[in-house]
Amino acid sequence: MTSKQTSFPKEKIRVLLLEGLHPISISRLQEEGFKVETHKGAMSEEELLEVIGGVHLLGIRSKTDISARVIRKGKRLLSIGAFCIGTNQIDVHTAKSHGIPVFNAPYSNTRSVAELVIADIIMLFRGLFDKVRDAHEGEWSKSASGSVEVRGKTLGIVGYGHIGRQVSVLAEALGMRVIFYDIADRLAMGNAIRAVDLRDVCEQADVITLHVPGTPDTKGMITAEKIGWMKKGAFLINTSRGSVVDLNALREAIMSKKLAGAAVDVFPEEPKSKAERFTTPLQHLPNVVLTPHIGGSTEEAQRNIGLEVAGKMIRFTNNGSTEGAVNFPNVVLPELVEHHRILHVHENVPGVLQKVNALFGDARINVAAQHLRTYEDIGYLIMDISKTATGKIMQSLKDLPETIKVRALF
Ligand code: NAI
Repeated sequence: MTSKQTSFPKEKIRVLLLEGLHPISISRLQEEGFKVETHKGAMSEEELLEVIGGVHLLGIRSKTDISARVIRKGKRLLSIGAFCIGTNQIDVHTAKSHGIPVFNAPYSNTRSVAELVIADIIMLFRGLFDKVRDAHEGEWSKSASGSVEVRGKTLGIVGYGHIGRQVSVLAEALGMRVIFYDIADRLAMGNAIRAVDLRDVCEQADVITLHVPGTPDTKGMITAEKIGWMKKGAFLINTSRGSVVDLNALREAIMSKKLAGAAVDVFPEEPKSKAERFTTPLQHLPNVVLTPHIGGSTEEAQRNIGLEVAGKMIRFTNNGSTEGAVNFPNVVLPELVEHHRILHVHENVPGVLQKVNALFGDARINVAAQHLRTYEDIGYLIMDISKTATGKIMQSLKDLPETIKVRALF
């Protein structure tokens, strides 16, 4: 829905979208009345330095690096949208210290990954990959031996977050018994049962699927020892991060028939482009499904990412809400109805709120609502004030030495 609040006419808000973003992101921002320019590919630092001075909202994917130099030159920049999952390509620290929130879409592809896992489970239980390949090669591998239904089997989920929980729901719909392990206290979905620990999952599960983040704690989590705890003939699925599984240990387990197969979508080293060869110790093993990190790669996920990131940028531009920003205090603000709203980003040092309040007191301006959130070394102060007061206070706020950025919405 188009919102009315903005700091200046919407057609003056210039949006630059790079890397051929999904058309839904373009139309969403255009519908809002912003002036949108698009660019098919990524831009180099030099190219960005030339144009960034006139840009209010910048949208990129993973191939454009946003350096400190670019951010410093982006004098009008209000926010940056990473229309993808990760934000490593952006100097989010410098963005924060310039009062620029960075938004991304970490969960837009949750369902897509969960569906791939369900496909993997069925493929593994039926030995589909080898049978399909044989058929292509003219071999008729018609056999029921070792081919089983998933109904009634136990699925062990390690990491019961967004994806783990979706998999849980879908697997139960297929008649599987679900157990899970997570370091955090997670509410069990449906009839899923929380396992005592990782060993408990390994010992009970017919198939284990990993959905943990890539952290130092999960690096090399699945070792030969953990595989040793698993049932003979069980399966392992990894669509989380390449660092989580010791691939040589997994190879050994498949060669020795300890495990009856595996499906792996993520690898410690992945080719950067189609031109690079892909190698892994898991190639040419029986009943091993290898996919090129496509768990989250669907049309729907791309569309969801477009809608989610564009939506977050629009909300911030129009009403100051920063929910989901990766480098900024997160606030969800009410719609602005009868007031003007001042957004004040400042250095998080003692005494700023007192100084700001003194400015309002001296100018005899009544504050209708005030929110303050801090994150690391910055504070984000939002004040709703009467419509006639904005002009009087903006310059004094800008002049405060601790002020990083100040913007008015009306
Ligand atoms: P999430 O953050 O919602 O859930 C992760 C869960 O793992 C949390 O509940 C957390 O408490 C738990 N966890 C963390 N450390 C753990 C440990 N040591 N042992 C057990 N549980 C632990 O993340 P989400 O969105 O579910 O993503 C899961 C993984 O999937 C991530 O690694 C992500 O990078 C990956 N992913 C892969 C995609 C693909 O294309 N293959 C696409 C999207 C995400």
